[in-house]
Amino acid sequence: VFESIPSPAWRLPLLGDLLTVDSEKPIQKEMALASKLGPIFEWKIVNNRVTVVSGVDLVAEVNNEALWAKSVGLPILKLRKVAEDGLFTAFNSEPNWRKAHNILSEGFSRSALRNYHPSMLRALGGLTDSWDRVADAGETIDASSDANKLALDVIGLAGFGYDFASFIGEEHPFVGAMSRVLAHVNSTSNDIPFLRKLRGNGADLQNEKDIALLRTVVDNVIAERQSKPGEHQDDLLDLMLHSADAETGEKLDPVNIRNQVFTFLVAGNETTAGTLAFALYFLSRHPDVADTARAEVADVTAGETPAFEDVARMRYLRRVVDETLRLWPSAPGYFRKVRTDTTLGGRYDMPKGSWVFVLLPQLHRDPVWGEDPESFDPDRFKPENVKKRPAHAYRPFGTGPRACIGRQFALHEAVLALAIILQRYNFQSDPEYKLDIRETLSLKPVGFELSLQRR
Ligand code: HEM
Repeated sequence: VFESIPSPAWRLPLLGDLLTVDSEKPIQKEMALASKLGPIFEWKIVNNRVTVVSGVDLVAEVNNEALWAKSVGLPILKLRKVAEDGLFTAFNSEPNWRKAHNILSEGFSRSALRNYHPSMLRALGGLTDSWDRVADAGETIDASSDANKLALDVIGLAGFGYDFASFIGEEHPFVGAMSRVLAHVNSTSNDIPFLRKLRGNGADLQNEKDIALLRTVVDNVIAERQSKPGEHQDDLLDLMLHSADAETGEKLDPVNIRNQVFTFLVAGNETTAGTLAFALYFLSRHPDVADTARAEVADVTAGETPAFEDVARMRYLRRVVDETLRLWPSAPGYFRKVRTDTTLGGRYDMPKGSWVFVLLPQLHRDPVWGEDPESFDPDRFKPENVKKRPAHAYRPFGTGPRACIGRQFALHEAVLALAIILQRYNFQSDPEYKLDIRETLSLKPVGFELSLQRR
């Protein structure tokens, strides 16, 4: 006998839980519902049933690849309009997924990462030039906006040999367009014709324009490389253009390459930027943590620019990033679909094809994280403490073969950026600022400013 999944008590007959959906902040709404309804709950919007899972035991079950697999959930399905069969949005069954995965995995090896280190430093040079001016003028920076600029410059230079030069002059239009496209996907995910009418089609028209702009930028990135056929770079774009999949002997086709470039510009940007901005928030709120991290950076680098090997030696700073990704995982969840009829948690019926959403910020506050999961404490990630927790209690980069391919890239970038920032500046946030989190598929703090002094 199956049990029914807990759901909000109050439900309109036709529209389901529509009125309880917060289209601007659905993740934060789901966290509140999970706190009330428990480690699994279901809500219904018209005929669209969403099962939200956040308890560690249930997440361990749905992460079991033998029974479950990645699902291209509704928002990701919407993103297919732009990214089509790019790595992130590809269906498990699409041959282009394995092909691209095989070819591009090489672009994320440790030796590849070593090649990206100078590009990351170059992008960071843009940030420090800009921040030096801000510090001297006694002004403040907007952490999310600058983190976005940095992450775009890093993925542009390291992945594609393309300089967005975000800290010089006006912001590159790619940034605004991308952020609007993601916000549009986010707010139209539970697309209901009658809501679309209420919204009007202004946003849809803007969306079409934004997508066209993104495509043009992507085509420029590819064209620039192809205009210099003799030039060889050790980067993602070279792998995309010239490498063959060892399994099939096939190369990526031009349409797929376009989809991959777009995918990496988005995937490599938003999530890393959000993580960096949240980390700056926590460091500014925990001066003791910032002091410890700064001392470690001084110790490891002896005051020099961090070398590639130094990054892995900054263990404490890495824990600051890990703990940031626990409290506010910038990619706040992922979808899983069941391969065959099964039972979840020993009591909930899951017929073949049912899917669930894993709500990461809530998983990362499961009781296994102790009495005070809201407190920011990098020591949670000391090896002896990690060992005491179940493996599936922490999944900011997803799970299984479809987990994040850019994980090491992102962690290297985040630790390196924070190291250089801590080395170079003292920074403070306004004590009156209350964390306000914007959701555009990914999470990031809004209105969060830092004042800076050169050290
Ligand atoms: C997939 C998180 C940075 C490229 C994913 C997934 C998560 C994630 C949770 C799995 C999504 C799913 O199951 O539907 C993050 C976080 C990042 C980050 C939190 C930063 C802190 C990056 C970077 C890149 C990247 C820097 C590229 C340079 C990708 C790609 C996929 C992916 C291509 C799809 C992989 C596949 O399905 O084969 N990421 N990511 N990510 N990520 Fe990341």
